[in-house]
Amino acid sequence: MTAIPIETRQNALVVGASQGIGLGFVQQLLAGDRFETVYGTYRRPESAQELLALAKQFPQLICLPLDVTEEETIAAAIASIQARTPRLHRVVYCVGVLHDGGFQPEKSLRQITSENLVRSFQTNAVGAALLAKHLMPTFKHDQASVFAAISAKVGSIGDNHLGGWYGYRASKAALNMLMKTTALEYARRCPQTTVALLHPGTTDTRLSEPFQRGVPPEKLFSVERTVTQLMAVMDGLSPADSGDFFSWDGSRLPW
Ligand SMILES: NC(=O)c1ccc[n+]([C@@H]2O[C@H](COP(=O)([O-])OP(=O)(O)OC[C@H]3O[C@@H](n4cnc5c(N)ncnc54)[C@H](OP(=O)(O)O)[C@@H]3O)[C@@H](O)[C@H]2O)c1
Repeated sequence: MTAIPIETRQNALVVGASQGIGLGFVQQLLAGDRFETVYGTYRRPESAQELLALAKQFPQLICLPLDVTEEETIAAAIASIQARTPRLHRVVYCVGVLHDGGFQPEKSLRQITSENLVRSFQTNAVGAALLAKHLMPTFKHDQASVFAAISAKVGSIGDNHLGGWYGYRASKAALNMLMKTTALEYARRCPQTTVALLHPGTTDTRLSEPFQRGVPPEKLFSVERTVTQLMAVMDGLSPADSGDFFSWDGSRLPW
């Protein structure tokens, strides 16, 4: 196989790369020589040991601390990328929260709290918009690029037949609107960038782990499979698709 000439090699950023789907993206982006530099962000070293170990093995991987609830860490990470790399070609926002030690997804209105709703919105939606704000200069070039955020089918308002999971559903719907609106602005300011929302399918990670019992094995994807599928979807996108919401098989989902 012929090696890819250095000037066509690309740069990628994975936000939320410490584990799960984000870590899977970093692993696949490092395979082969398409990407010259891969940036992976993590919130705290304790849960990012595998990512930090990869950086020792792959000099093209650069790990940066970033907590999406603190805008200054987003600005600092992007500034550090810009100091090394003039252009980005692939950015994937893999940050998300459905539950943690402090809260579980709501089954009923009785379980709603203002604090937990705000937490879901901050992590699942607001962080992506702040990222879009700081990222724009890295997309101001004439090569094709993709900025994708991992959303979720349960964030589709039209597809909501089951109810429950108020904070997660509503924050993913908000993510969808924020990215759709970003796509319209990016189309004017960095027209080679395709902005997309991606539903990964149920994937075997910490996030889905407590809810996997009812999922048939063929519908529970490994991280590797999910990332391969989402990379194929991203590779098939063009600016005409910008602002749309895609499932793992490339089909469009209803808002
Ligand atoms: N797994 C599924 O079945 C499924 C289905 C539909 C959609 N999704 C979406 O896919 C995306 C990835 O989820 P996953 O399944 O890979 O879950 P995961 O393994 O729990 O990973 C979530 C990632 O988000 C990071 N994160 C959380 N809060 C953050 C913050 N404030 N700042 C920066 N990073 C933060 C986590 O970092 P820490 O290690 O520091 O916590 C971790 O890297 C999410 O948007 C999720 O909603 C997943």
